[in-house]
Amino acid sequence: MKIRVLTLFPKMFECLNESIMGRAIKRGLLDFKAVDIRNYSADKHMKCDDTPYGGGAGMVMTAQPIYDCISDIDPKHEFVRIYMSPKGERLSDKLCRSLATVDNILLLCGHYEGVDQRVLDLCIDREISIGDYVLSGGELAAMVVVDSVSRFVDGVLGSGESHEDESFSNGMLEYPQYTRPPEFMGLKVPDVLLNGNHKEIDKFRKAKSAELTEKLRPDLIGRNAETE
Ligand code: ADE
Repeated sequence: MKIRVLTLFPKMFECLNESIMGRAIKRGLLDFKAVDIRNYSADKHMKCDDTPYGGGAGMVMTAQPIYDCISDIDPKHEFVRIYMSPKGERLSDKLCRSLATVDNILLLCGHYEGVDQRVLDLCIDREISIGDYVLSGGELAAMVVVDSVSRFVDGVLGSGESHEDESFSNGMLEYPQYTRPPEFMGLKVPDVLLNGNHKEIDKFRKAKSAELTEKLRPDLIGRNAETE
């Protein structure tokens, strides 16, 4: 999968070179690049923002550098072009799975008071939000998309890592996990996990998963993970 993030702060994305994402990039499963929009500014001072028409607080990102950047990165419109925005469709397990089937994804990160609407109208296919709160920019939201979508790309999770039992995969929260030692600060690992009986372990985990979901996220129960 090819991912291009368009941002005024490309350095913020260096953290994606760690852990599972970093491994996937090194293995060539993810072709990831953060592109600096400022390099496309036609302004002699590389300015990429201006005051909003009609007045109001803050600055708005200008259309020209973004338009030229997108035209350069994706001249034939082969990418799904996404603008990270609190106004967008809410990111969910289902949306992550569906984006993971796309070959090329472009994520545009806004900053300040947002982006000139005309460049969104001209260039953007869809808007995605990571939740009902406002971030100072789309960068953190884009990182959330890159991480959560890549996990569903074939090969990104190694053997022994799986999203099968994870929270939301079957519309439920995941069961609790334990590792060595068998007792810590007086708290014991449930016996059933130590006896090697996989049928019983499976039953225990399913019951715990149901119990946790009921307690912490009753809204998930009865909701169809495939359709929501
Ligand atoms: N940019 C600012 N806030 C955002 C949010 N909640 N989701 C996605 N992009 C954003």
